[in-house]
Amino acid sequence: MEPTALLEKLQIEFDRHAYGDNPAELYDPITYIMSLGGKRFRPLLTLLAASIFDTDLEKAIKPAMAVEVFHNFTLMHDDIMDRAPLRRGMPTVHEKWNANTAILSGDVMLIRAYDLLLDVPVEKLRTVLARFNQTAAEVCEGQQLDMNFETRWDVTEEEYIGMIRLKTSVLLGFALEVGGIIGGADEESVQLLYDAGENMGIGFQLKDDLLDVYGDPTKFGKQVGGDIIANKKTFLLIEALSKVNGPLKTELDHWISLETFDNEEKVNAVTKIYDALDIRSFTEDKINEYFSRGMASLQKLQTGSVQKEVLLQFVGQLVAREK
Ligand code: IPE
Ligand code: IPE
Ligand code: MG
Ligand code: MG
Ligand code: MG
Repeated sequence: MEPTALLEKLQIEFDRHAYGDNPAELYDPITYIMSLGGKRFRPLLTLLAASIFDTDLEKAIKPAMAVEVFHNFTLMHDDIMDRAPLRRGMPTVHEKWNANTAILSGDVMLIRAYDLLLDVPVEKLRTVLARFNQTAAEVCEGQQLDMNFETRWDVTEEEYIGMIRLKTSVLLGFALEVGGIIGGADEESVQLLYDAGENMGIGFQLKDDLLDVYGDPTKFGKQVGGDIIANKKTFLLIEALSKVNGPLKTELDHWISLETFDNEEKVNAVTKIYDALDIRSFTEDKINEYFSRGMASLQKLQTGSVQKEVLLQFVGQLVAREK
């Protein structure tokens, strides 16, 4: 099955799915964020991974949805933490309602993710839940490190990669892994799927950091420059700090140490410094490196299924994404 057909199938299931309705103040924000869509590529990864090992995808639908509901829960809370005004081209939940609403609606989304996992065949339920729990805790660890790094100036590239592995990659790893488990893949294949997700996820977050600076605001759907405004220790800033010297260094130090500033002015000034240091092409090389590693793991899967090629092609498209 092609990703477009799988996406349609998923959409029907999401449209049909009831998150709850009373009180409306709790459930409306969930319907809101879920209806804004997004790429939905994590549940697609689950379905594509399952489809390599089993032609019947029914059992994989709910776990795939669980991954997407969990992801949207993390976004709702992440947007509070990042003071983000926009998500998928629309106001974030804490802006449209308020932070308390975004906290509690997010909490119930996490619970709904567990509900969606309840249908996993009983002989696999314990394994899936244990892996999900580890993944979810790791995402929180990554998010805490991300916030810790906001006020640190000595974050190394290695520490950064460790942080994004936790906040982003492990969920891509789980999305692929759970698809393999539900599809009945052997242990070695399940591990290869996880490894693929881990490396792709690092490439994916690097690309997210890049788009945060260089994305087209009409396509990106989030505030361009948000990471610069918040002094996020992204790959771009870490590289810039390690390469910069002379007057450019004085200028970068000036902007990142300001307590109050005009957002647009800071974003423009820091972007110009990135341009001068050629940070963009350096980041693009890193993105390609991690995606290639992820694809290499997928290539190692011992299967004659054509769905492996479909998955590989799908992953290839993620590298070139503009949102
Ligand atoms: C955003 O994820 C959060 C990151 C881990 C970078 P996506 O880029 O997958 O967001 P949506 O779901 O498509 O909106
Ligand atoms: C967040 O990373 C990853 C999550 C676990 C939610 P970002 O903070 O960069 O994600 P965006 O850019 O807001 O989507
Ligand atoms: Mg964040
Ligand atoms: Mg964010
Ligand atoms: Mg981001």
